[in-house]
Amino acid sequence: MNPHEGTGRRFPPGFLWGAATAAHQVEGGNRWNDWWQYEQDGRLPFKSGDACDHLARYESDFDMARDMGHNCHRFSIEWSRIEPNEGEFSPDALELYARIIAALRERGLEPVVTLQHFTLPAWFAAGGGWERKDAADRFARYVRHVLARLGPSVTYWLTINEPTVYVLQGYINGAWPPLQSGAWVGAARVLRQLARAHVAAFDVIKALQPHAMVSFAHNALWMEPCNPHRRLDRMAARARDYVYNGVFFRLIGASSAGPGSLDYVGLNYYTRCCVRFAGRGPAAVLGRACRLGHHPQAGPRSDVDWEVYPRGLGEILQKFRSLHLPIFVTENGIATEDDALRCLFIEDHVEVLADAIDNGIDVLGYLHWSLMDNYEWDRGTAPHFGLAAVDHPSQVRTLRRSASVLAQICKANRN
Ligand code: FCB
Repeated sequence: MNPHEGTGRRFPPGFLWGAATAAHQVEGGNRWNDWWQYEQDGRLPFKSGDACDHLARYESDFDMARDMGHNCHRFSIEWSRIEPNEGEFSPDALELYARIIAALRERGLEPVVTLQHFTLPAWFAAGGGWERKDAADRFARYVRHVLARLGPSVTYWLTINEPTVYVLQGYINGAWPPLQSGAWVGAARVLRQLARAHVAAFDVIKALQPHAMVSFAHNALWMEPCNPHRRLDRMAARARDYVYNGVFFRLIGASSAGPGSLDYVGLNYYTRCCVRFAGRGPAAVLGRACRLGHHPQAGPRSDVDWEVYPRGLGEILQKFRSLHLPIFVTENGIATEDDALRCLFIEDHVEVLADAIDNGIDVLGYLHWSLMDNYEWDRGTAPHFGLAAVDHPSQVRTLRRSASVLAQICKANRN
């Protein structure tokens, strides 16, 4: 079924359709990074092990993407493979990613390349991670090496994946390396450092490749007051929205007055957050997320307890339209065992996207999270976000019906 057939509505020429993955979640054997170390030390609940063994299977994985009508694919380069020891760059690893990019191009898949997706080289983490004084320089040096080899074959770059999520999980919730809880001062410092690293990487890429399109991937959470008639809930939702969806953009100089260090806006959209006033004082300013299903248009909840709320994508696109830059939906998806729900999820979100385009919002593409089930960080392999199911012991991939729902949409709207 194609929700747009017969409506006369079309996605713009060159619209990019595809799926996304990240190195540590699919590659397997990423033994030079901090996550792997924490996994081995038993400080994280699940080990990534062989993950999806993607480095041995990327060709058939990309065949699968091509056969689904995709014309784009997002993946990440694992910094710790490129620079396993400080200042030592691996030509073999660079060649590996050059082959991956060539394999995508051979199949007509436009690469969207993330330079850092949550994991850090162990040596960098041991020296303080993003808190290191030289963090931005070290990151920029790595980016320069990547660009020198891979620059000419890539147009779309994402410097850092979801800085706010990284800071929240690593420094506030204590769920991800470096496992710090409630470290608000450290969190603020790291967010600033990530912004510096993004700007440094942006400058390196643009200096070497002026026509490149560079962004970071922002996790865009649509904030609403739990009770829209309650002023204190509205205040808390506004504060949370500012911190979550605003601060990083300010730090990199992007606002309605100018793009700062951005050529486009990479947005990962999954859900909304309904915010309740949580009392006064610094710890309560951001309110509390309300998970009761009593909000207007409440949607079903996924297996990781995220509400399905397609309208939120429209709201988010409208919100970020104020930056006057093209927008790229760099992730959108659902963890569920109920594939019928995933089918509906895809149709509803694509419908909202089409409406936004009809309303004049400049959207470059839509990437589904994820191409296949993978290692979902501290939740292990239980949440299933894939268009393809993966049986990890045998590494057999099986396309879900939702894969063909998206495939039909891609094929009908490619041009
Ligand atoms: C995003 C991450 C991605 C994956 C999805 C489910 O926040 O970028 O790696 O974990 O969530």
